[in-house]
Amino acid sequence: MFSIKSLVGLLTVAAFSAAFEDSVADYAPAVNIDCPDLESTEFVREWTASNQTLNPKEAAYVETRLNTTISQAWDDWLGDSSQLGYNTSSFLGNFPKIGIAIPGGGLRAAQYGAAALSGLDARNSSAKSAGTGGLLQVTSYLSGLSGGAWITGSLFFNNFPTLSELVFGNGQDLSGWLLDLAFATPDGDDLFSEYNQYFFGSILWSVMSKANTGIDTSITDPWARMISYHFLNQTNRANFFTNDSAHGAGQLWSDIPTIPAWQQYQTPFPILVTDSRPQNLNTTTFLTLDPTVYEITPFEFASFDPGLSAGLNLTFAGTPMKNKQPVNASACVTGFDQAGFMMGTSASLFNQILDFAHNTLQGFSQSDGNGLLYVLSRQLSQVRTREDDVANWPNPFNGVKTTTYDDTNSTWLSLIDGASNGENIPLGPLFVRERGLDVIVTLDGSADDPNNWPNGTGMLFSAERASTILQASHQQFPPLPQNAQDFIDTGARERTTFFGCDPQRTPPEYPLVVYIPNMPPFNGDDPTANTGTFQLQYSPKQQQVLFDQVHSNTISGFVPNTNEADPNFGKCLQCAAVDRARYKLDPVVNRSDFCQTCFKQYCFDPKNPPSLSEVPNRKQTFVDPDPQGLGNFLSENESKLIGGAVGLVVFIVLLVGGLIWWKKRKNRQFVAQYQQVSALHDEEGENLKRYSQYVRPESYEMPSHQGSVYRD
Ligand SMILES: *[C@@H]1O[C@H](CO)[C@@H](O)[C@H](O)[C@H]1NC(C)=O
Ligand SMILES: *[C@@H]1O[C@H](CO)[C@@H](O)[C@H](O)[C@H]1NC(C)=O
Ligand SMILES: *[C@@H]1O[C@H](CO)[C@@H](O)[C@H](O)[C@H]1NC(C)=O
Ligand SMILES: *[C@@H]1O[C@H](CO)[C@@H](O)[C@H](O)[C@H]1NC(C)=O
Ligand SMILES: *[C@@H]1O[C@H](CO)[C@@H](O)[C@H](O)[C@H]1NC(C)=O
Ligand SMILES: *[C@@H]1O[C@H](CO)[C@@H](O)[C@H](O)[C@H]1NC(C)=O
Ligand SMILES: *[C@@H]1O[C@H](CO)[C@@H](O)[C@H](O)[C@H]1NC(C)=O
Ligand SMILES: *[C@@H]1O[C@H](CO)[C@@H](O)[C@H](O)[C@H]1NC(C)=O
Ligand SMILES: *[C@@H]1O[C@H](CO)[C@@H](O)[C@H](O)[C@H]1NC(C)=O
Ligand SMILES: *[C@@H]1O[C@H](CO)[C@@H](O)[C@H](O)[C@H]1NC(C)=O
Ligand SMILES: *[C@@H]1O[C@H](CO)[C@@H](O)[C@H](O)[C@H]1NC(C)=O
Ligand SMILES: *[C@@H]1O[C@H](CO)[C@@H](O)[C@H](O)[C@H]1NC(C)=O
Repeated sequence: MFSIKSLVGLLTVAAFSAAFEDSVADYAPAVNIDCPDLESTEFVREWTASNQTLNPKEAAYVETRLNTTISQAWDDWLGDSSQLGYNTSSFLGNFPKIGIAIPGGGLRAAQYGAAALSGLDARNSSAKSAGTGGLLQVTSYLSGLSGGAWITGSLFFNNFPTLSELVFGNGQDLSGWLLDLAFATPDGDDLFSEYNQYFFGSILWSVMSKANTGIDTSITDPWARMISYHFLNQTNRANFFTNDSAHGAGQLWSDIPTIPAWQQYQTPFPILVTDSRPQNLNTTTFLTLDPTVYEITPFEFASFDPGLSAGLNLTFAGTPMKNKQPVNASACVTGFDQAGFMMGTSASLFNQILDFAHNTLQGFSQSDGNGLLYVLSRQLSQVRTREDDVANWPNPFNGVKTTTYDDTNSTWLSLIDGASNGENIPLGPLFVRERGLDVIVTLDGSADDPNNWPNGTGMLFSAERASTILQASHQQFPPLPQNAQDFIDTGARERTTFFGCDPQRTPPEYPLVVYIPNMPPFNGDDPTANTGTFQLQYSPKQQQVLFDQVHSNTISGFVPNTNEADPNFGKCLQCAAVDRARYKLDPVVNRSDFCQTCFKQYCFDPKNPPSLSEVPNRKQTFVDPDPQGLGNFLSENESKLIGGAVGLVVFIVLLVGGLIWWKKRKNRQFVAQYQQVSALHDEEGENLKRYSQYVRPESYEMPSHQGSVYRD
């Protein structure tokens, strides 16, 4: 029997479940909401280069974790450390603070980063028994950029599982990265296939939901949604082409502190890096080191560059601000910090790709290439949005640091790939003085040379930025090879190398840097991890072989002049991780004989540099472990690969076409709900550039460490 009351109850339940059903439209931020009290709320924090402060919540998380989980993890990793010739208990309370940086380079970097982390993870038994597994557990910070941002975000939004479960799934709640389904055309090359159309439809639905709020969208938004399908946790093979799941829409970067592993202090503190194209710069060419570099943490969108030294509470990203306050107390925005959009912002290289298409399409006839570009630029020139090829963020720092901040007069920021200024490794945040890191472990998966191996260029750019622009705000780098050629000639890029082993001062004048490059297999096997940056699809076998090979390289170290694994490498890595603790004791404890021997082998001594001949018989050329693996991709020749890239470009054209349609419709039907931003938008008329108005250099130079579309 139904009473009215229970009927009402039922209806309420129905309404509630409808309201809370996950939808791809959850990608839309909430706009025009009442701001918290302007007087008592600090939206934007400021500090100075000489007196930095961290966000209090960051400081508290990192310190509590150091005192609890990490202090236990050191014990688990080192035991009593007699194997190193030390006594762990003498280091208590003085263990070094460690950060790991994961570089950019598309899916190559994401997979290389995951596999390298698995080699440092105590939860992996082979890493544990090699002695390398355990470093991840004592790490306080994890920074990621571009492809490295994807693995970073993926770890958190899947509750910090083991790396192989993350990448390959666990047959239960984790479905893995599904990299055999291509990013842009998951149902194969035919854009008009039924399933590709479903997929595009869902993506457009998300993007339009956001655009519908009046916030300017761009190509970064569909890109963000594609990233979410693979790296966030709500997509599996069964629901990939459906609207049954939000596919990660509505998951916010500022929600990371609600994740169970975070609440148990099991995870490092994550930071993404993104660059900016200042508003007064009207070319899209390669950035210099000058423009402001930003970071995104679960608490803040910030920059520790001396010129800005300010951070916005990430919850309010997207809110129009001036002089550190919302411009309209009843027009705050929340939900702008979509996890996919944060990862997409850090990987927003479209300002490069679209230009780069000149080169991308080399394999095509000139006319085909030109035709595509022509269509693309015509389409884009119609879109009435701020900038089409960057991540558009309302600038929360408008009116902040008026004399030193490059975008202080801008109402919008144009954020772009974190490697756009040449820094392909997110080292900046880890060198911030106030974070006080003692050891920085840097992975490097840059595609600097024609075989897609790194040559140190990314780190050299960061060292240069630190010694010039960031001198007042950041720690300095230890001595590095002079240049890329030096990285090559010393072999430092083909083996794990420690930098800064012998500081001259106490406390040390720079952190110790452990450099773990993506490198040819130590044992002389054919390399499989040096794939192209724009390869947007991998067969399961390609993924597995790459992963296992990088894992094995990471835990094996090297024995000079051989192709053998070093049985002592795990302990040598422990020596490096714990070394800075010695300098915190009074008197400074001497380095043990065992660690001294390790350091002789693994350290870069600028006065007596190592040599390339120590790493013999390394194969450089990529060999596809699964040439027939994917029927529609990468099979016998490059043209398929190029097809993938063209697929992406064509897809973008379609999306943008969709946006044009939507914009026109919107102009007719909707009164802009997001009035403040719309108003700003109009004020900024002269900044409302069209794609075709940008300076288009004939031969655009893309930072080559991101790699070319071609594998060779
Ligand atoms: C502030 O925002 C509200 C929408 O929440 C809008 O109705 C109002 O007109 C705005 N005020 C100004 C001064 O723009
Ligand atoms: C540094 O900044 C903090 C917080 O803003 C402030 O309390 C402190 O007085 C400052 N210290 C110096 C030396 O200026
Ligand atoms: C962490 O430990 C240090 C030194 O042992 C102590 O000063 C500090 O108060 C502790 N912090 C927390 C959050 O427990
Ligand atoms: C390590 O040091 C502690 C005190 O600092 C001492 O009690 C212990 O015996 C030492 N262990 C070894 C193996 O020397
Ligand atoms: C997926 O992530 C969301 C947000 O972090 C979380 O609420 C949910 O529990 C996760 N689901 C699974 C299966 O891990
Ligand atoms: C999901 O919804 C969008 C928008 O309504 C639509 O274009 C797309 O085809 C839908 N996908 C499926 C599988 O129904
Ligand atoms: C922007 O471009 C125009 C012409 O294309 C040039 O005259 C002007 O100096 C440029 N401005 C800046 C800040 O580079
Ligand atoms: C950001 O603001 C929200 C809402 O006022 C608040 O709950 C949160 O603690 C703030 N975050 C930080 C890092 O201060
Ligand atoms: C910002 O605008 C003011 C006033 O127009 C000008 O004096 C100042 O140079 C501008 N600052 C920057 C960094 O462009
Ligand atoms: C450890 O990693 C290796 C290499 O990828 C893998 O084969 C193995 O299954 C992993 N073990 C565990 C327990 O995750
Ligand atoms: C530490 O090393 C110095 C110089 O090598 C040596 O003189 C000193 O005796 C050593 N101290 C200890 C405690 O072994
Ligand atoms: C190192 O890599 C960069 C690309 O990041 C490239 O321009 C440069 O030529 C390379 N240097 C050497 C010496 O190979």
